Amino acid sequence: MRLYINVDHVATVRQARRAAEPDPVAAAALCERGGADGITVHLREDRRHIQDDDVRRLAASITTVLNLELATAGDILRFAARLRPHQATFVPERRQEITTEGGLDPGSPRSAAYKRLAVGIGRLNDAGVRVSLFIAPDRATIDQARVLGAAAVELHTGEYAHAYPRSAKALARLQRAAAHARGIGLAVHAGHGLTYLNVTPVAAIPEVEELNIGHSIVSRSITVGMETAVREMRSIVDRARATPGVDTGSR
Ligand code: PXP
Repeated sequence: MRLYINVDHVATVRQARRAAEPDPVAAAALCERGGADGITVHLREDRRHIQDDDVRRLAASITTVLNLELATAGDILRFAARLRPHQATFVPERRQEITTEGGLDPGSPRSAAYKRLAVGIGRLNDAGVRVSLFIAPDRATIDQARVLGAAAVELHTGEYAHAYPRSAKALARLQRAAAHARGIGLAVHAGHGLTYLNVTPVAAIPEVEELNIGHSIVSRSITVGMETAVREMRSIVDRARATPGVDTGSR
């Protein structure tokens, strides 16, 4: 199980003052020392947290891998194709949202949004970037991801996280989606809203090979430091994986 840490919110604190600190690149190095397998950042169209230069500096300095989240805006797509991160995850983006609120809905193959997405995926595939799509745990959308040429899907765990611990139904949906995605040859990632309390059942889904976690870890890092915050999450995730039938706490 790979654990990727999303350091967007380190940049959120910096941008609150338009200052030089805290630096997401320094935070990423501490994440790696704490056991992260990769660093995730979302270069939003409004540049509200991560800036282009942060992504360039991360690409040049991290010792693990970079997972760049992006929408289909032309300038960001060009930036990604030039930078060639290890992985690009397409996410939906709405200006007014506080964070990425829903999964990507490719829509009808005749729609402009679908065509933009198909072009974006093709372009990054051609550049040798592994492409993942952040989508709801929904069978039809998973099938679309495969048709579109993605290598992986990141299943949106928001519904599960919000319902936790009364999350048995949402967990079952994630489990079914993960099995289906793997069954049709897609790699399975998961993320959004995962915390130290609710991560275990998701980490225990055997098909899930990568977790992307941000807010909970960055929040905890304020009190215990980034390296320790990551180390703690790492150990929960590893335990979930190593213990078949681990008590998931979901009801
Ligand atoms: N995965 C994706 C695709 C996301 O957009 C986000 C949030 O930016 C995350 C994972 C991490 O979510 P959280 O910050 O709630 O852990």
